[in-house]
Amino acid sequence: PISDRVEDLLSRMTLEEKIGQMDQLNITLINTTGEQRDVELVKSKAREYILNHHIGSFLNGEAVPAQQWYEFTKALQKIAVEESRLGIPIIYGIDHMHGASYLAGATIFPHNINLAATFDVQHSINNGHITALESADLGHHWIFAPVLDLGRNPKWPRLYETYGESYHVASEMGSAYVKALQNNPDISPYKVAATGKHFLGYSDPRSGWDRTPVDLSGQSIHELHAPAFQAAIDAGMKTIMVNSSEINGIPVHASKEILTNLLRGHMGFDGVIVTDWDDIGKLVNYHYTAKDYTQATEMALNAGIDMSMTPTSLAFSESVMELVKSERISESRIDESVRRILTLKFELGLFEHPYPRNDRFERIGSNANKAKARAAAEESIVLLKNENAVLPLVKSPEKILLVGRSANSKRNLSGGWTVGWQGAEEERYPKDMHTIYTALKAEFDQSTITLMPENTSTKDLQSAAREHDLIIAAIGEEPYTEFVGNLTTLELPADQQSLITTVAASGKPVIGIFVGGRPLIVSDVLDEMDGYLWAGLPGFEGAESIANILSGDVNPSGKLPFSYPIYPSHFVPYNHKPSDVYFFDPEEANSITQGEKNVWQWPFGFGLSYTEFEYSDFTLSANTLSVDETITASITVTNTGERAGKESVIWYLHDQVGTVTRPVKEVKHMKKIFLEPGESSIVQFTIEPDKDLGFPDENRRYRLEPGKYTVMVNNEKVDFELLQNQTP
Ligand code: IFM
Repeated sequence: PISDRVEDLLSRMTLEEKIGQMDQLNITLINTTGEQRDVELVKSKAREYILNHHIGSFLNGEAVPAQQWYEFTKALQKIAVEESRLGIPIIYGIDHMHGASYLAGATIFPHNINLAATFDVQHSINNGHITALESADLGHHWIFAPVLDLGRNPKWPRLYETYGESYHVASEMGSAYVKALQNNPDISPYKVAATGKHFLGYSDPRSGWDRTPVDLSGQSIHELHAPAFQAAIDAGMKTIMVNSSEINGIPVHASKEILTNLLRGHMGFDGVIVTDWDDIGKLVNYHYTAKDYTQATEMALNAGIDMSMTPTSLAFSESVMELVKSERISESRIDESVRRILTLKFELGLFEHPYPRNDRFERIGSNANKAKARAAAEESIVLLKNENAVLPLVKSPEKILLVGRSANSKRNLSGGWTVGWQGAEEERYPKDMHTIYTALKAEFDQSTITLMPENTSTKDLQSAAREHDLIIAAIGEEPYTEFVGNLTTLELPADQQSLITTVAASGKPVIGIFVGGRPLIVSDVLDEMDGYLWAGLPGFEGAESIANILSGDVNPSGKLPFSYPIYPSHFVPYNHKPSDVYFFDPEEANSITQGEKNVWQWPFGFGLSYTEFEYSDFTLSANTLSVDETITASITVTNTGERAGKESVIWYLHDQVGTVTRPVKEVKHMKKIFLEPGESSIVQFTIEPDKDLGFPDENRRYRLEPGKYTVMVNNEKVDFELLQNQTP
């Protein structure tokens, strides 16, 4: 068994060798030439780190062709396997967030927020499967995905990396991804590991800015933020990365409560816990909770980390050595972490199959893989406004005017973590990738499409708009991630608002397409747009998907996985508490009202189609149940329009009276169906009290409370009652 092999190896390792296994360095320490993966540099520089400092892991990269990656990781691995004393292979980690996004020629899926908008886990499965397929042969053993943080604060610059607001959606999408990535038979003899990140609560900073303090109650930790991680752990997820910020005053990298008591103790995680980027260093000069690096290392080890993404110096290795020598940390504590790291390496088969291979690269970026990314993109775009059925453009307009910063941009469609950390220069994206402009030209080949440069004067824009039949405004954001994407306001920037106002003054129909990682507020210009699509970050196949939706070749079926805000500084999630909206009605200031009017621009789960779906015959198999029984809710969904289409049927539950305040609703089940015109389907949700009706309290005690509940789907709701348990 693996445990015997681990113990045998561990017993033969020196302290230095053990510490090196716990250290992960950035590849730029070796590959100092920038983009190119340089084998000669590996030979000259990696020896120092691998042989003298026993480093067991490297990370990072920029997109280069597969053959370059192959030669590079092979050269690196050869040093570890053939020249080091014990031949322990290195494990290479990389941020392939939505496909192998640091590999030239790879298939690039939409980012997670778009996958969530499909409400169909199959797309997450395809993302995991194809990411592994296009990574494993390159010697990329460890994928730093999925992000399991909840996208509850739309200002947070990493919202697009999340599966949105609902922990149920995140649990389903995240665990499906993990299973598909880690258990992919098509990458045999290799295996790759997933990383759930960033444990925990990272996405909910007070300010909405990245890596800023988070205040979280025990209640929201257990009820909201832990479930998606728990689902992925239960699915076998091998590694977890830690939240860089602080929770309730304690940096998570120094929190034994979160990393050991909660994650290992309560949640049963026995895989590898890796820090985020230089987060031990940040205990010193960012959080100011440690006076020096050695103390910071001691705190992180005592909290429960196994590996340090150090990543640009030997500070971690040196500090651990000092701590063990001075007996502040025991060698058995080091053994614990090394055991987990070696177990991971054995489980991935790295000892048997350490080297990459280059004999099946034709699978990378294949048409079949791209078709799956395209299908995901098509189902992820959300149609939010369609006044007078301006869309689809059934009759091709003769002259289309295309404006906006995303009109002819590949990088904007792709977002951060693609080709480079913050995206890359336009020339570095694939030649055969479409922009919205080129995709429209191909889709509307009977129309004249005029692309207006971004710096066109207002006067020229006005006259161009008058001369065209339809205006498409591709608005939104440039790529960003982490702190680089911090915003001071969520409003669509003024220049983009005035672009819309200017073209709309022509009286011609205007269709807005939003490209970007979060919902920017468009309230002030919404009346000026006849149609509005939230395209999010749909990836390399995104432009054609947008064009297909505009033409009607594809019927949109995306629904919002977040609440689209209407005010720049007031965000209310869909699963808010009753009192969140009790006094809220800005149109009638100071009046006490109740309800969700004017809380959002569009609510969670909203999305239009080119057809109509009618929900009818909502029935429950019973109106009461006891704890060990189930109730099945059924609804008939009928396509009453004239086009075939897909519909995500989203089921919610609400606990009417709780000892802890209960959200007004929670997603508990989802199913996407396809219906031809006139076709109906019965969709069911079986409610299991233990799984669906209970909740953890702040001490993580599970409460399942008898009383009335409501089950909701679309605009329908029915009550039922959970009976008091009969004691015999
Ligand atoms: O994996 C990422 C993480 O999500 C953010 N900080 C850097 C890591 C490695 O690139």
